[in-house]
Amino acid sequence: MSPNVITTPVRAMLVLGTRPEAIKLAPVARAMAASPLFEPLVVTTGQHREMLHQMLQMLQIPATVELDVMRERQELSTLTARLVDGLGEVVRAERPDLVVVQGDTTSALTGALAAFYEHVPVAHVEAGLRTGVLDNPFPEELNRRLIGRIARWHFAPTPRAAGHLTAEGVPEAEVFVTGNTVIDNLLWILQQGTGRSAFRSDLRRVLVTLHRRENQGEKMRAMGKALRRLADRGDVEIVLPLHKSPAVREALLPELTGHPHVRIVEPLDYVDFSATLAGCDLVLTDSGGIQEEAPSLGKPALVLRTTTERPEAVEAGAARLVGTEPQVILEAAMHLLDDAQTYGRMATAGNPFGDGRATERIVAQLAEDFGADAEAPAAPEPLVATQPD
Ligand code: UD1
Ligand code: UDP
Repeated sequence: MSPNVITTPVRAMLVLGTRPEAIKLAPVARAMAASPLFEPLVVTTGQHREMLHQMLQMLQIPATVELDVMRERQELSTLTARLVDGLGEVVRAERPDLVVVQGDTTSALTGALAAFYEHVPVAHVEAGLRTGVLDNPFPEELNRRLIGRIARWHFAPTPRAAGHLTAEGVPEAEVFVTGNTVIDNLLWILQQGTGRSAFRSDLRRVLVTLHRRENQGEKMRAMGKALRRLADRGDVEIVLPLHKSPAVREALLPELTGHPHVRIVEPLDYVDFSATLAGCDLVLTDSGGIQEEAPSLGKPALVLRTTTERPEAVEAGAARLVGTEPQVILEAAMHLLDDAQTYGRMATAGNPFGDGRATERIVAQLAEDFGADAEAPAAPEPLVATQPD
């Protein structure tokens, strides 16, 4: 689907439903709102309720439409059906010039599908990430592959991600290496300097987040046990901002509640989370976004998963993919806390996810393709491959 050349402003519908989508589309919303060339319309799906709402202020524009689809223990099939239905109606009512989706969530997939059904072209931010394993992460690897079939613009954060798309047959002219907008937003929020770290002691500071569906249940309970043994060292403070998912809470709370060296907190808003990340010594996570943010702040990250779609951080030496076996996780964390040399190498490996100007590239490319670029500032040079491929 090609964009029609139209008169400005270009009406861009940004669809977002979860915490990371709000974080990563916030700079795009802000840039479009500040430009005379665009009229951004924000549609929130409500896939996440509390965790989305605590992020929305960062967009600096109110949502045009708020769907409210979240249900306790929502199933993927019903969530998907409700969202295709709800978003289809919104796209028909608003008739945007394009729909922008981010990443690989159910909200992103259904936003792309709803746009496709109404012949509206789709821009995909953070395109081309792949593990190569269809059901890991579940269901995100399928979601991102499907969005890759639908999108007209593929904004890939790294050259490797762009390579995945062209290898799948996406025309090179539709793939743009931009960097990841998460870096843009992280730099923006840190500049404000108003965040408060959740750590409360001078012990070694370990930040932990866990939420992935494929880790839930027994696996996550065992990971909780490993964290408790890490806390038993006595010289660490573990901060665990707990995802709202009941399945995550059931797995982690029994193991960790009440431990004097574990501070369990509700999900932090982004300004406090980034201050907490900036103030930690070590990160243990199965999050996608945190794998990108930690290297930007020089924080070694242990990735508690068996696959990653972000191997750039591992190859750069900033992160280690340690899997989900409790003993291996424990040993890897102990090693990093005790071996200053290994720690130092990881902490200085650098960030392969962009220069903080991804949004500028995205917005400039869209302006050009809609024929609205006459008055637009020039885009920064595309990112070049600085990491191993
Ligand atoms: C979703 C995304 C995942 C992303 C994650 C970010 C899909 C399939 N998965 O996973 O890619 O990494 O968001 O966090 O799109 N809940 C609340 N309040 C909230 C948010 C969630 O109560 O604010 C509960 C709901 O009951 C829900 C459960 O958490 O049933 C899980 O939420 P869901 O969006 O289905 O999956 P996530 O694991 O959050
Ligand atoms: N995050 C946050 N508060 C928290 C935990 C995480 O603001 O309490 C941010 C984090 O900085 C990152 C994003 O949420 O940008 C990651 O979200 P999540 O791990 O839920 O999703 P994923 O990135 O795995 O899709």
